[in-house]
Amino acid sequence: MEAVNAGEHLEVRAVEPDDQLAWLRASRRTFLHPKTVTPEHVEHRRTAWAGQRLTGAFDGDRVVGTYRSWDWPLPVPGGPGHELLTDHVSSVTVAPTHRRRGLLTRMITADLRAAKDRGVPMAHLVAGEAPIYGRYGFGPAVSGQTLEVRLPAPLAHLPAGAQDVRVELVEDADLRAEAPGLFAAVAVSRPGAVRRPERYWDEVLGLAPAPGEDGTDLRPALLARDATGAAVGVARYRTREKWEGMRHDTTLEVSDLFAATPAAQAALWQHLVSLDIVDRLRVTERPLDDPLPHLLADPRRALAGEGSDHFWARLLDVPAALAARGWLGPPGACVLEVHDALGLAGGRWRLEVADGRASVEASTATAGVACDLGALSAAYLGETPLVALAAAGRVRGEPASVARLSAQLAWQPTTWPTHTGF
Ligand SMILES: CC(C)(COP(=O)(O)OP(=O)(O)OC[C@H]1O[C@@H](n2cnc3c(N)ncnc32)[C@H](O)[C@@H]1OP(=O)(O)O)[C@@H](O)C(=O)NCCC(=O)NCCS
Repeated sequence: MEAVNAGEHLEVRAVEPDDQLAWLRASRRTFLHPKTVTPEHVEHRRTAWAGQRLTGAFDGDRVVGTYRSWDWPLPVPGGPGHELLTDHVSSVTVAPTHRRRGLLTRMITADLRAAKDRGVPMAHLVAGEAPIYGRYGFGPAVSGQTLEVRLPAPLAHLPAGAQDVRVELVEDADLRAEAPGLFAAVAVSRPGAVRRPERYWDEVLGLAPAPGEDGTDLRPALLARDATGAAVGVARYRTREKWEGMRHDTTLEVSDLFAATPAAQAALWQHLVSLDIVDRLRVTERPLDDPLPHLLADPRRALAGEGSDHFWARLLDVPAALAARGWLGPPGACVLEVHDALGLAGGRWRLEVADGRASVEASTATAGVACDLGALSAAYLGETPLVALAAAGRVRGEPASVARLSAQLAWQPTTWPTHTGF
């Protein structure tokens, strides 16, 4: 039987090059990833890891916990130019043999403190399970939805210009020249849309596949061009072909779709929902404002399901973060008190919103609105309504003050749940 104080001899430290294979194996094992991890996998990750902090929890020379973070910009409400440097956290695992002894707490609190000391105003991550990260001040801030459309699904509406968009059928590798720039241009306007590094494109487009992924599958893709021939949209998909007798029952899974204009986005959807010998289209991680259902003659053909949190955010410097974003909501001031159980980012400030900006100053006045840091972090990117958090008891104050701050924090367009493949 394990000793109650078995955690005392466990060491948490930076990962050395010699530890990397065991570290990657430990991480994959705890995530229940079935494939063998080889030195080639470590080699494949070397460029990505070069600028990242890899932490391990060690029991003797065995890796029993993994944690990885790096500083990376994240778009916040306000449009192009509004972004925050964030502590991007990933690869969080603790071996089943060593769980619930405080190893995650040791790794994450040290990392958040270090990020705060570097002057990084926010941390964010994808949560494997929702109950894990609230205790550390994170709140669900970026959501996605799954849409499933029964095909054929005739369209009843199209935005202006959609008929002038030409959709080319290509393959993933053909997107390499156009997709990265187009994605970057689109993502800067969407809060939470994590920038994708160059190596992401090489890997997902099959040009530098991870070991064991030979990249020989057919990888159909769409490239939308406007009337001038400029690339304005991209979609990538796979088909899961199934036949029973002479009847097809095939699913098309869209893995990525982004466009510079509503016209290009609609043209891509129009192409995908009108394909022959396909019975349903399924797409996960779409932003909550995706227009697909609104294009259809029968919007119920696009059933939304499995909507869920995508990124969780954790403010580390409340005044810097509030001042860095744009504001659409009504002008007005309030004194906001924020409680941070980790003692990193709490305080009381006078927040004044006017002309699309906020000024934030320390205050000793009585607070008009008070909340825990996770609630403010959830609302910060403009998606989670503060009034809903108030209704759940996470935010307190005069209803009118809470409602105004909620309206101020809201933002359009909605957050965007991108994947980054780091
Ligand atoms: C999630 C995980 C990293 C937690 O590590 P850990 O070292 O066991 O966590 P800690 O011991 O520091 O737990 C701290 C607290 O969080 C709670 N907690 C941790 N994981 C939890 C979970 N999955 N669900 C609910 N509560 C959880 C613990 O009970 C503990 O609560 P307490 O302080 O009230 O006792 C680990 O269980 C794991 O690797 N799980 C599988 C992979 C995974 O989900 N990783 C996260 C991906 S983002």
